[in-house]
Amino acid sequence: MSPHQRLGPREFEVAVGLPTGSLDERTKALLEKTPLLYSPLDEAAQTDARIKVAEDIDRGFTVVGEHRESIWRDAWQDHLDDFIRSGHALEALNPRFVGGTALLRWQGAYVEGVTERFELAFLEIFRDWLFRTYLADAAHLYEFGSGSAFNVAAYAKLYPRTSITALDWAPAAVKIADLLGEQHAMKIAGQRFDFFVPDSSFEFAPKSVVLTMCALEQVGDRFRPFVDFILAKRPQRVVHVEPMLELYDPELPHDALAIRYHRQRKYLSGLLPHLHSLEKAGSIRLLTVQRLKFGSRFHECFSVVAWEPV
Ligand SMILES: C[S@@+](CC[C@H](N)C(=O)[O-])C[C@H]1O[C@@H](n2cnc3c(N)ncnc32)[C@H](O)[C@@H]1O
Repeated sequence: MSPHQRLGPREFEVAVGLPTGSLDERTKALLEKTPLLYSPLDEAAQTDARIKVAEDIDRGFTVVGEHRESIWRDAWQDHLDDFIRSGHALEALNPRFVGGTALLRWQGAYVEGVTERFELAFLEIFRDWLFRTYLADAAHLYEFGSGSAFNVAAYAKLYPRTSITALDWAPAAVKIADLLGEQHAMKIAGQRFDFFVPDSSFEFAPKSVVLTMCALEQVGDRFRPFVDFILAKRPQRVVHVEPMLELYDPELPHDALAIRYHRQRKYLSGLLPHLHSLEKAGSIRLLTVQRLKFGSRFHECFSVVAWEPV
């Protein structure tokens, strides 16, 4: 096994597409406080990892869609129960599916995370940077598919005066968001929302910013109702942090596996080409398309796509 390496400021800059030496002091301090340590894998271990990942994919995963509503309902009910039992501890909101595996994808290869729950530790630092970069000027933040509400809780800590609405189709997710308002005095409220059937009577507050994080992935190729809804309702900006099928390179074995996994689960596909065509038609302005080349063993959930209606 090779010695440990560290995902430090320079590596973070590469991942999020910043020029060398331009990372802000706060992110540098966060990377110092929680060192992100990993072990690179040699060629033999890369091959071994690819074989194991391929075997897991071949064994199959559940596919996204309406039939998974009850799965999410139960998953967030468990988190809601834990949250209440813990006396509303924010740590109880960390989803179990984030950071569970040590094998990670990093800059086109597999690495072994050394820092405990590496993916979660990375996510917390990345999310802090993302919020300050894209969501700082929101008068009202809406996270669609908010799940355990740990993202909006992190946002509320950073921007306690900004109103926040956390939307999800799972009732327990809505309840957790409401409890954050009631128990932590955060300006957060929950609301039911279904990506497949957006509420046509919904209105955004002025200067709204929309966030989706690993949530629109769940709609597969049925993103149109949500995008049409956004175009009709016109928030100021939209920021997706989602696995983006079109950003993988099918020629690379490492990426080909992520594509196979993504397709097997029927995750989000076609959104990016659709946004490009909307930009061509003059309906939106694309602000950022950035693949971090970081992910869990199967795929990369944190590609950033930001846009605004014109
Ligand atoms: C992988 S979780 C991500 C949750 C959260 N954004 C996060 O970063 O942990 C996907 C979320 O999308 C929600 N979801 C899936 N399909 C949905 C739909 N059709 N309408 C609304 N929410 C949906 C699920 O309930 C779940 O909360």
